[in-house]
Amino acid sequence: MKAMPPPHLTTQLIHHDYTPPSGFTAPQPAVHKASTVIFPDVAAMRAREWKDKTSYTYGLHGTPTTYQLEERLATLEGGQQCLLVPSGLAAIANVCLALLKTGDEVLIPDNAYGPNKALAEVELSHYGVRHVIYDPLDPSDLAAKITPATKLVWLEAPGSVTLEFPDLLEQVRICRERDVTTVLDNTWGAGLAFCPFDLLGDGRWGVDISVHALTKYPRGGGDVLMGSITTRHAPLHLRIKLTHMRLGLGVGGNDVEAVLRSLPSMALRYQAHDTAARQLALWMQDQDAIAQVLHPALSGSPGHVHWQQLCGAAQGGAGAAAGIFSVVIDARYRQDQVDAFCDALKLFKIGYSWGGPISLVVPYDLPSMRNSATSHLRPGTVVRFSIGLEAVEDLRADLAQALESALRAG
Ligand SMILES: Cc1ncc(COP(=O)(O)O)c(C=O)c1O
Repeated sequence: MKAMPPPHLTTQLIHHDYTPPSGFTAPQPAVHKASTVIFPDVAAMRAREWKDKTSYTYGLHGTPTTYQLEERLATLEGGQQCLLVPSGLAAIANVCLALLKTGDEVLIPDNAYGPNKALAEVELSHYGVRHVIYDPLDPSDLAAKITPATKLVWLEAPGSVTLEFPDLLEQVRICRERDVTTVLDNTWGAGLAFCPFDLLGDGRWGVDISVHALTKYPRGGGDVLMGSITTRHAPLHLRIKLTHMRLGLGVGGNDVEAVLRSLPSMALRYQAHDTAARQLALWMQDQDAIAQVLHPALSGSPGHVHWQQLCGAAQGGAGAAAGIFSVVIDARYRQDQVDAFCDALKLFKIGYSWGGPISLVVPYDLPSMRNSATSHLRPGTVVRFSIGLEAVEDLRADLAQALESALRAG
């Protein structure tokens, strides 16, 4: 056999000796990034096992770093299997595309995250999947809308923007009775306010799938987009994973590492956002321009009793809630005055999302977002606040000066 000549420097640099460090015991997980995963020989390539996490195939389908985050998120949510996707919305789409086919129906609450409804209205309808909107505050409406074609029911607790907390327990019971798969958008609860797979803590009631926009609290920096899909049922996980593989929904190692790095402080951050949001929501209740404050932990808020039942025992009885709330600005103010109020805020920035360090504000045109009338809401314009990690006194002063300059009484 002819000996190979010594490799060129470029080749040496690519094929440099490298063995992952053993004996380097540090609690921080390493960042592994790869498209190609090298097999020792063809037999090993043919025998590769990708269904469980015992080996690797291709970077798109998992690395030690992504597996690590998936395991920690399964722990956070009380699930058993987890998949990472490039955004919260991608998680919603992945679940729909995995579980729905032509002729099926999907039920979506009227106050669902807007792009979830848009996905159903436009993309799913292209594939012959029908969507039906139900009233999140009336479980009998959900029950009446389930048909033999219903294959998936979306749940959100609380709903987006108006934050009505549904009777999640009853919704899950109805779907279970009718043998329909349930999927909760658990971004608000984040695995901290209640356990989606065990709502009462007695192991009897829970959803089948939990979707989480990791973009919000798990990362908490406002600089990463990512989502997860968690289950407790291996065959259901496999169905979703196969679609995930076919769609190529991989995530980048650096982003995964950023979420891994933020997870240890997540519960503390969630509690800080929660405390500040409740203080500001209570203060807003006393302001003349405000017709209604929507925050599930406030006693007058729609669905407060259901929040109390599910989340009331958390944090030593104080209950747990995400750091967002909305207000209805009284109908006597015109849209341009509401816009001027948002523009007058200095610390609150105008922009979407929540769970990051910077407080945000968004005015909404609610009638264009809802299929049915919202008679439980007072007339006026809905404005949502996402409370960041600034000092609460500074945020209160900012709200006060913007109310004074744009929405002065009289
Ligand atoms: C309730 C809810 N679900 C899902 C998402 C989507 O998350 P992402 O921004 O990561 O796509 C959002 C984003 O605002 C959200 O508010």
